[in-house]
Amino acid sequence: MKGLKKSASKILNLLRIVFASKKTPIIFVLLKEPIFSIEKMYANNFTSMHNKTFTRYILAIATCWVLLLSNTLMAQDKAYAAKGKELYAQNCATCHKIHANATGPALKDVSQRRTEAWLIKWIRNSQSMIKSGDAIAVKLYNEWNQTAMNSFPDFSDQDIKNILAYIDEESKKEPVKATPTATQTGGTTAVAADSGYTNIILGALATILLVILAVLLVLTSLLTKLLKQRDDLDEADKEIVESKFDLAKILGSKAFIGTVAGIIFLVISKAGIDKVMDIGMQIGYAPTQPIPFSHKLHVGKYEIACQYCHTTVMKAKSASIPSANICMNCHNAIKTGSPNMQKIYSYIENNQPIPWVRVHNLPDLAYFNHSQHTVAGQIACEQCHGEVKEMEVIQQRSPLTMGWCIDCHRQTLVSYTTKDADGKDVLNPYYEKLLAFHKSKGKTKFKVEDIGGLECSKCHY
Ligand code: HEC
Ligand code: HEC
Ligand code: HEC
Ligand code: HEC
Ligand code: HEC
Ligand code: HEC
Repeated sequence: MKGLKKSASKILNLLRIVFASKKTPIIFVLLKEPIFSIEKMYANNFTSMHNKTFTRYILAIATCWVLLLSNTLMAQDKAYAAKGKELYAQNCATCHKIHANATGPALKDVSQRRTEAWLIKWIRNSQSMIKSGDAIAVKLYNEWNQTAMNSFPDFSDQDIKNILAYIDEESKKEPVKATPTATQTGGTTAVAADSGYTNIILGALATILLVILAVLLVLTSLLTKLLKQRDDLDEADKEIVESKFDLAKILGSKAFIGTVAGIIFLVISKAGIDKVMDIGMQIGYAPTQPIPFSHKLHVGKYEIACQYCHTTVMKAKSASIPSANICMNCHNAIKTGSPNMQKIYSYIENNQPIPWVRVHNLPDLAYFNHSQHTVAGQIACEQCHGEVKEMEVIQQRSPLTMGWCIDCHRQTLVSYTTKDADGKDVLNPYYEKLLAFHKSKGKTKFKVEDIGGLECSKCHY
């Protein structure tokens, strides 16, 4: 404690002497010292200075050039990768992922396990390569159950190199955990605990603190040095100037140790709290599905209604996942040759359901009913599931925690109307009496919480 206090007061006192000394305003003298005054620098020891300054000047310019050059090179790589990204998205993403296996193998670091020439040949026409008996190609084909990859005979070498540049760039990145861009309405708090940003801010703060510390250290030693050369200081000032700036003492001081221990404690407990808050909360969970079924394509592009596949979502508790037969309504005619369809056919032949991986899953202790929300509550699917029609891979967008359910029940007004058979809004007979009763009391609006939406037994068995 003492060491720290002393050092801090030393800095302050030094500044006081510099700026507020009653005798000569030392600040003016200081400004004429070599480090501040270029004029004096030139006048005094130009020759010795010159060499050093010149070397530094050259070094600085060289560094700038190196930075600039590497930047341009990287920018060029980026440009290739950007072109590749589009081609990849249009032609490869249906079957490939970078970090995980899909219909085809994960492409992470593929340019390290194969040569460029091999890759170009393969991507342009993998089948002819397999037929020609290329050992790697044949082995790969068999490993992947002889699933045929599309050929891309129209791709130029540069096209393929661009795609590979994109794959290389993506390979360096961490697997993306889909970001929680939840479309949460009704004022439900966005639980976008973006610890990424917090970390960046914390890092920046730490850096700034370190820089300030360094500047202060340099300043003190500089001021001490300069002030030592002066002889018009009184005794008290001299003592301050001569007092040691003791780093070891600071590091050993209770205050310093306390602060560091405090910071470590905060960081650890924050990590702990983050972990606990994450339990049961899986925003962004988007598992790889056995068939790369795309909602974006089927709902976004072909505008198939949700209920066409999720047949019970308006009638029952569960929304239901479509059976392969529903797919066959269309796919016994559409895309019958595609490897994905072959997979579906084989599931049907073997009398197996398609093993879709479940995304949303409340614990057994909670009761949630779809029809209550979609029909009576008139809540749109998007409000809880996000922009499904834009999802290539379905993804959990809401936290599905008790707090999330309750927040919405606190904020959402009960809708008295419901849709009739023609899709017109009509008064929900279920609420007719309730509404009449409330009107007689002069209250015409009530929230879900007012009809018991916060009662434990409504949501818990
Ligand atoms: C119809 C699905 C499909 C599409 C579309 C597709 N691939 Fe493939 N790809 C596969 C399969 C399956 C394999 C595994 C080998 C096999 O069975 O033919 C594979 C293998 C590969 C390999 C070899 C991987 C390794 O480990 O050596 C590369 C590289 C590759 N694909 C790149 C691409 C690129 C680039 C595109 C887009 C231009 C693309 N693929 C489009 C299905 C596909
Ligand atoms: C052509 C059929 C089809 C249509 C139309 C469709 N879905 Fe799906 N949906 C599926 C299939 C198949 C799955 C399971 C595979 C998957 O998770 O991608 C699924 C899964 C889901 C899941 C995740 C289920 C889980 O495991 O938790 C949600 C949520 C969902 N769909 C919402 C919607 C919404 C909202 C719409 C309308 C905007 C819609 N779907 C339209 C076929 C369809
Ligand atoms: C109402 C018609 C319809 C239904 C039902 C339907 N699809 Fe599709 N599907 C399409 C259309 C149209 C395409 C686009 C075909 C194209 O790109 O030429 C498509 C494309 C696909 C593709 C990408 C094409 C490929 O070769 O891989 C997959 C995978 C797919 N559907 C899976 C499914 C699954 C699984 C189901 C059942 C859950 C399903 N579809 C139900 C109409 C339908
Ligand atoms: C009020 C919020 C909410 C709305 C609105 C909503 N869902 Fe859900 N959905 C959920 C919850 C919560 C689950 C998880 C249920 C479980 O695990 O029991 C779920 C699960 C699902 C599933 C997985 C299968 C199942 O039933 O567990 C599908 C598919 C689905 N929803 C589709 C839809 C569709 C389509 C709509 C619109 C017509 C819709 N949902 C509207 C909250 C909602
Ligand atoms: C986006 C808003 C919203 C979310 C999120 C939501 N609900 Fe609801 N919930 C409603 C509305 C609106 C009603 C009223 C429906 C009606 O008019 O009967 C309702 C009604 C209910 C009811 C019936 C209450 C009663 O008194 O009859 C239950 C049970 C319920 N919700 C459970 C849940 C559970 C469990 C969750 C979380 C997994 C959840 N809800 C998430 C909006 C929501
Ligand atoms: C609107 C629906 C709703 C209401 C009302 C509700 N809960 Fe829950 N509760 C849930 C859901 C959904 C979960 C599961 C969420 C999760 O796992 O994060 C849950 C989980 C829990 C859990 C387990 C927590 C855990 O981590 O395992 C307890 C305990 C609980 N609720 C108690 C209560 C009590 C007590 C009340 C009444 C004061 C109540 N709940 C009212 C929806 C509700």
